[in-house]
Amino acid sequence: MRRSRITGTGSAVPEKILTNVDLEKIVDTTDEWITTRTGMKERHIAAEGEYTSTLATRAARQAMEMAGVAPDELDLIVLASVTPDFPFPATACIVQHNLGAVNAAAFDISAACSGFLYGLSVVDNFMKAGSVKKALVIGAEVLSRIVDWTDRNTCVLFGDGAGAVVLESAEGDRGILSTHIHSDGSYWELLNQPACGSRNPASQKIIDERLMFLRMQGNDVFKLAVRAMEDAALEALAANNLQTTDIDLFIPHQANRRIIDAIGKRLKLNEEQVCVNLERYGNTSAASIPIALDEANRAGRITDENVIVLDAFGGGLTWAAILLRW
Ligand code: UT7
Repeated sequence: MRRSRITGTGSAVPEKILTNVDLEKIVDTTDEWITTRTGMKERHIAAEGEYTSTLATRAARQAMEMAGVAPDELDLIVLASVTPDFPFPATACIVQHNLGAVNAAAFDISAACSGFLYGLSVVDNFMKAGSVKKALVIGAEVLSRIVDWTDRNTCVLFGDGAGAVVLESAEGDRGILSTHIHSDGSYWELLNQPACGSRNPASQKIIDERLMFLRMQGNDVFKLAVRAMEDAALEALAANNLQTTDIDLFIPHQANRRIIDAIGKRLKLNEEQVCVNLERYGNTSAASIPIALDEANRAGRITDENVIVLDAFGGGLTWAAILLRW
């Protein structure tokens, strides 16, 4: 049996840290509100001259170094982001150029916070079809550039960063066991960036109405996230005849500590099973799961044969779960 196996992980965040106390000086908020409502304490913010491709390239290099894979061995680079360097070309192409991955096809995926899992699912299917042997999957965001720094409802939540994995097609029963991706476009308005696409192209009116910034109806998204992420995790377990007690590590999208706790409770997971790092990074959208995976891997929290469930939810709406044996 051939499986898509993660052979290297990497992550990169900007140097600059913005704390809750710093945010108190920018909008009408408090460290206490942010901490109790979200669990977040600080997030990283990109410097001038630092782009999504910059962070993605750094994360990718780390993952390739760990995997021992050279740039010209890569067949495919898939990058998930809602904050690409440009509407086009794909940021994956810029990363391909930065890496010198001359043999790789490269494209972006837009599935918001579920983007990294969508990317893993796409590449897994390429590998099952036999047309790709070695690939990079990257989740990378510079959300600080589309956040409205006058809107306390959203600006306290997001951070910048990137995470990457090298996937290799390998013999054996270790690797991705199943992928489960879902969407419901009827909720597209709950979380979006209204302008800068074909519907609302750039104009003075767009700037005056601040439509180039991210908008979210947080409360509605919260309720839908808990239900969808629970369903997706259970779907992944059922597909593999496994129980929640079989999970060695559960890595959820890092949007809100209360969402993660609610899912953990519903799935009856104990604290050791659940990966949480949002207190240091905020919500980094497509980057949150690969950053957490890389941290867990480098901290020695993962060992061979571990059962890992990745679980995401985001704008679209989109949600996804992936079950893998390390
Ligand atoms: O990553 C993609 C998916 N995203 C998510 O999953 C995010 C899901 N949503 C959430 O995490 C939460 O809904 C939020 C953290 C965004 C908001 O928490 P909440 O408990 O749902 O609060 P709320 O929106 O119901 O707002 C409660 C109050 C409001 O005041 P009133 O109307 O009750 O007087 C807000 O104006 O909190 C106020 N508020 C704030 N106060 C201080 C909102 N943001 C802030 C703030 N500081 N930063």
